[in-house]
Amino acid sequence: MAAKREHFASSITAMSALAGSAIGLGNIWRFPYITGQNGGAAFILIYLFCVLFLAVPIMLCETVIGRNAGANTFRSLEKLAPGTAWKWLGLLTVLTPLIILSYYSVVGGWSIHYFAKSLISGFSAENADLFASFNSSIWMPLLSHTVFLGITALIVLRGVKKGIELFNKFSIPVLFALILAIAVYSVTLPGAEEGVRYLVKPDFKSVNADTFISALGQAFFSLSLGVGTVLTYSSYMKKDGDILKVSAGTALADMIFAVVAGFAIMPAVFASGMEPGIGPGLIFETLPFIFVKLGIAAPVLSRIMSVLFFLTIVVAALTSSISMFEVGVAYLVEERKISRRKAVLRIFIGTWLLGALCSLSFGPLSGMKLFGLTLFSLCDMVTSNFLMTFGALLFVIFTGWKLDRELVRNEFTNNGSIRFNNRIFGSLYFQIRYVEPIVILVIFLFAIN
Ligand code: PHE
Repeated sequence: MAAKREHFASSITAMSALAGSAIGLGNIWRFPYITGQNGGAAFILIYLFCVLFLAVPIMLCETVIGRNAGANTFRSLEKLAPGTAWKWLGLLTVLTPLIILSYYSVVGGWSIHYFAKSLISGFSAENADLFASFNSSIWMPLLSHTVFLGITALIVLRGVKKGIELFNKFSIPVLFALILAIAVYSVTLPGAEEGVRYLVKPDFKSVNADTFISALGQAFFSLSLGVGTVLTYSSYMKKDGDILKVSAGTALADMIFAVVAGFAIMPAVFASGMEPGIGPGLIFETLPFIFVKLGIAAPVLSRIMSVLFFLTIVVAALTSSISMFEVGVAYLVEERKISRRKAVLRIFIGTWLLGALCSLSFGPLSGMKLFGLTLFSLCDMVTSNFLMTFGALLFVIFTGWKLDRELVRNEFTNNGSIRFNNRIFGSLYFQIRYVEPIVILVIFLFAIN
């Protein structure tokens, strides 16, 4: 079985796959908003610290496990800790990304719908309740969810090299070019300065414990930590790459993308006199109107920008959704010994069904609530506040306390051959054993509070 496994061609393509998983809706709608709320540039500095010193080590744990075992999440844990309960962590991390995928695909579907609308007719002032009427209806959101998940499935069906690697290799540079172009357009709009100020003014007065919690939570979601996607992609990495460089490079790319996305969105929001709304609403409710407003002065340019903007969201969401899809497919192919085609079909059907229910929870099923939440919000809340953090906690405990220290060192330093990694291993290992579990536990307690 191991001999048949595909591998990413190089560290660069492995990094673009991991960056693809990381760069997604989290960067485009969540980061700009959280930054504005948490002290602008001060938050960006704290976020940088959290990513480099707290999130990258967690990413390294998943990478060490995945690359060493070279298997799906379940088999990796079973291989490294045979006959123990750790395999349940392997199973949990097959399920978590599939739950995320189900509702993520609904939002991915919205962005496809908006992309199509910006391309075909553009947005107009009569569309005031566009988002509310669209997502509470039945068929269009379901169709969009189906299209988004279908494209994801087709890419994954083509395999690790011809599907996932190829798609990311082209998409990542395109995404960076697109978001940069939009940012340049946005900051040069009349009245954009206030939005720029919103992002860059370091407001240290609004920094407190919550700021750190928000920064860490954002870092977790944005880097796709604790859910097995990093582990699965790492299992396709070749043994000669430097996992520190790959992880730090991924984190940096994700961070840069998020900051540029902030400059693409906030100045435009302010330039059109809108309020920096919250969450998905910012993209789907506020932005179309920005394009309407700007369209009055420069119709062609604003139309092009709206097409490019929604295209960016669609592609960024796809590079993330394929990473979640692949976790389930790797598991089914390797553990249930079924063909990739069958595995893709099964994951498609399962996530389509859950996603369809999530989609309907904005319309006909909006009254169906558990703990006061609709199915969509419940899936979001349970995964991002609970399962991701829980998974990350278990991965660091597994790496720091269960795995043999020498195995971790050898994987991290390529058997002692990377000098820099050798030098920092001691402190990294200390951090994984003692600092990370405490930090993650604190976020966890805050999140469920
Ligand atoms: N990191 C992705 C984003 O920012 C979301 C994601 C979470 C992807 C978990 C894979 C796994 O949108």
